[in-house]
Amino acid sequence: MSTAPRNTALWHPFADMFEVKNGQFCVSKGDGVWIYDQEGRRYLDGTASLWYANVGHGRTEIAEAAAAQMRELESYSVFNDFTNRPAEALADRLSQLAPMDNAKIFLTTGGGESIDTAAKLARQYWVQRGQPRRTHILSRGHAYHGTNGVGTGIGGIEVNRAGFGELVPETSRVAHDDAESLREAIDRIGADRIAAFFAEPVMGAGGLYPPQPGYLEGVAKICAEHEILFVADAVICGFGRVGSWFGVERWGLRPDMITFAKGVTSGYLPLGGVVIAERVAEPFWNHPGRPFRHGATYSGHPTAAVAALANLDILEREKLLARADKLELPLHDALRRLADHPAVGEVRGGTGVLGAVELAPDLLAADPGALVRTQLAIRELGVIVRPLGKALAVSPPLIINESEIDLIGTAMREGLDRLA
Ligand SMILES: Cc1ncc(COP(=O)(O)O)c(C=O)c1O
Repeated sequence: MSTAPRNTALWHPFADMFEVKNGQFCVSKGDGVWIYDQEGRRYLDGTASLWYANVGHGRTEIAEAAAAQMRELESYSVFNDFTNRPAEALADRLSQLAPMDNAKIFLTTGGGESIDTAAKLARQYWVQRGQPRRTHILSRGHAYHGTNGVGTGIGGIEVNRAGFGELVPETSRVAHDDAESLREAIDRIGADRIAAFFAEPVMGAGGLYPPQPGYLEGVAKICAEHEILFVADAVICGFGRVGSWFGVERWGLRPDMITFAKGVTSGYLPLGGVVIAERVAEPFWNHPGRPFRHGATYSGHPTAAVAALANLDILEREKLLARADKLELPLHDALRRLADHPAVGEVRGGTGVLGAVELAPDLLAADPGALVRTQLAIRELGVIVRPLGKALAVSPPLIINESEIDLIGTAMREGLDRLA
């Protein structure tokens, strides 16, 4: 077992520290689709860390671009009239790539901060439009929007919400796979009370649920009918993960806002943001005296922006969005081959370089530890997968090849066999 038992002061996110404090898995190096532990043993990174290493690990050109920027100007805030060229260049480039005309870009340091930004902006937008009663925020069951205050408050994974009190007043969840459930919530609450609806294109951390055919187009239409702001949370789906820049294009969506993070830098530095449609920006940009009183110290961090620009160069030059399209089917096939395994209940995927293998419900009921045991067995076999709810999730870097995808499938089968 490749753990490095050490008594640590590091409090790990989401971890049972009673268990983890004496046994961690230490990652010490990354190269392409591979990561290495302290003993130099290599593992196929089947999850791109936390869904973000889209261009893979060890890209020296991103490191060099960041180092050069740090030597020039490591950081400076973009509050008020301060600016820096990398932040501007990144915003302009993302605006050009976005599926909305004349979009504005608010930069943050990650996904959760982007969710906070979009939710606060949605409520402020309605204040500026003279409809301050439009405060309610709708989201979906199973939704994961991060662990900041707003993301926790609008999240749809009950265990992540429990025990924190009501962090955000006036929120409701609707069924994750049925547009009619959104319509019913609007009828119940009243459109004139609703600011925005948040939805991930492919739901990620809530269990990996691709959208039902017509679902996203349906909810976008319902939002438009009621003038409810449609916020696509593309923190996972953006930057190639589902084959496009902002994770919404394949459904023809033109959201009012898109939250992004992760793949925008492939994780080389923390950066996220919100793409804001012209309609939403208009009251703030075209009228004096209406500042959006929001922003974090590192919004527009020039070194993070340079890392993002270098990462976008790689995504473009290596045509990784088109490559993701080509990988979608082989990855789904590799996972579907596990569907006949007696320990498997369901296989989900087929939309983007994303998939999940859910364990059989009776097996999990009898043996709740089976999921983590299987994950650890697969790691022992040299492949990283991630336990998610009742499933093992897979989301490798977009540079993976088909034989490496097969390796993921083979290791998963062997890991599942070990359960017997
Ligand atoms: C869809 C989605 N939104 C928001 C977040 C939060 O991002 P962060 O962890 O960078 O705050 C995540 C993180 O996984 C996510 O998957």
